Amino acid sequence: MAGIAEYDLVITNGVCVTASDVAAFDIGICGEKIALLAPSGSLATAPTKRLIDAEGGYVMPGGVDCHVHLQEPNMFGKGCSADTFETGTRSAIAGGTTTIVAFAPQQRTEPSLLAALDAAHVLARDNCYSDYGFHLLVGNAGEQALSEIARLPERGVTSLKIFMTYEALQLCDRDILSVLAEARTNQVLTMIHAENGDVLTWLTDRLEKRGLVAPRYHAHSRPPLLEDEATNRAIALAALVAQTPILLVHVSDAGATTRIREAQTRGQPVFAETCPQYLFLTREEHLDGPPGFEAAKHVCSPPPRDKAAQAAIWTGLRNGTFAMLNSDHCPFNFDDDVSGKKACITEDFPLGRFRHIPNGIPGVETRLPLAFAATDRLDRLPLTKLVEVTSTNAAKLYGLYPKKGALMPGLSDADLVVWYPNEGSTKRPAALSGLRITNGMLHHDVDYTPYEGRGVANWPRYTVLRGKVVWDRDGEGIVGGKGYGRFVEREASTLNDIWQRVEEAGQFDEEKL
Ligand code: URP
Ligand code: ZN
Ligand code: ZN
Ligand code: ZN
Repeated sequence: MAGIAEYDLVITNGVCVTASDVAAFDIGICGEKIALLAPSGSLATAPTKRLIDAEGGYVMPGGVDCHVHLQEPNMFGKGCSADTFETGTRSAIAGGTTTIVAFAPQQRTEPSLLAALDAAHVLARDNCYSDYGFHLLVGNAGEQALSEIARLPERGVTSLKIFMTYEALQLCDRDILSVLAEARTNQVLTMIHAENGDVLTWLTDRLEKRGLVAPRYHAHSRPPLLEDEATNRAIALAALVAQTPILLVHVSDAGATTRIREAQTRGQPVFAETCPQYLFLTREEHLDGPPGFEAAKHVCSPPPRDKAAQAAIWTGLRNGTFAMLNSDHCPFNFDDDVSGKKACITEDFPLGRFRHIPNGIPGVETRLPLAFAATDRLDRLPLTKLVEVTSTNAAKLYGLYPKKGALMPGLSDADLVVWYPNEGSTKRPAALSGLRITNGMLHHDVDYTPYEGRGVANWPRYTVLRGKVVWDRDGEGIVGGKGYGRFVEREASTLNDIWQRVEEAGQFDEEKL
């Protein structure tokens, strides 16, 4: 092609899927960037250092997973993350995700956000297989932390997360308002974990008094109403502070989904994410069903809900209420009685105590294959929607677009997932039919997957990160280097021009209330 003597990588014969289109294109890559999209087959003989024949398989922008917990300390007085930055990002690329945004956790006892960010950098630097960014996790909204919010954007961090639950992290409404006001002024997006922590503690105490402590009672301690109430409150507080943009994370239930939809319909800048656990796990099957302590494998917050809620979450994903499907990868080992799920088992409590089970499940590697499997069904996810919710919207919302989440020549990093050809193609390996997830095939450092035995129709065949093949399933598997993953500085969110709209609305002024 004109001006390009030799590509570094060409992907020919693929069907490219973006958030807007599905079309057969060849992709020419120079260095770290996408250089050219050309008619299918036209680059098959172009000079290139490496040629990948996609054989008719889909080619998409690499997954962007903006809800990943790695190497976090014992934040909740429970276990420690099983995955390090190394093992978590290794798992990410094997599942087609090329960028993660993890948390830099500020503990309650720590006054500084910037110190928390520095500490997270030390853990991640030279250890990542995927590109990575950070959200600040605000555990202490004291004066110093509030004043440091203004310093986050210059450090490439344009989002933070706050909690309405978890004894060690919960912020009261007054602190939430202070964070929202600071975040709004500095174009930092506030992510909110919306569950009513006081009610949850009250219910937990009552369940404990009655001896109802087995893992499945985790769901009884945090019924949907708690999420509904907190979501409603978060939306109200954000509206009060002159329509501060917020993002409700890991939304699990129909009531909360309705609150979010209503706010969006009113024109309030309210965004939301859901996670695979609310699409693929249910309370009936995964909390109430498993015998003994097994249900602890599915203890996360909010908990998996009933089938009706699951249907509402699918609808919310399809109709745009949820901008993103992120994993909330929060890994704890199961069979580990020091810092895993089983650490809560004692002689007196042979089924453990749910209040001490570390909350969270792994899922950074399975997110894309699970979602891809849902594109097979007419009533589930269109392919373009899959890319939108697993890559493009996250890139826009978190200030990474179009470097990430897109296939724009000259602008986008060459971050790609190449899938195997679909069923019906003679090029499809027979072994792929009947492919089921097992923990043994995953690359995290967790001793179980909540999706053990679940069928998936396809798996990333290659993952490409900034022009380099980092995952080659038919070859040596992980071929990327630890430390190739780079910190990505993020800009302010560009989704729906939110900050432009905030700017037009002017300063928050309590006198106007
Ligand atoms: O159970 C969960 N989701 N654990 C991770 C921490 C959080 O609240 O995101
Ligand atoms: Zn307070
Ligand atoms: Zn959360
Ligand atoms: Zn989380």
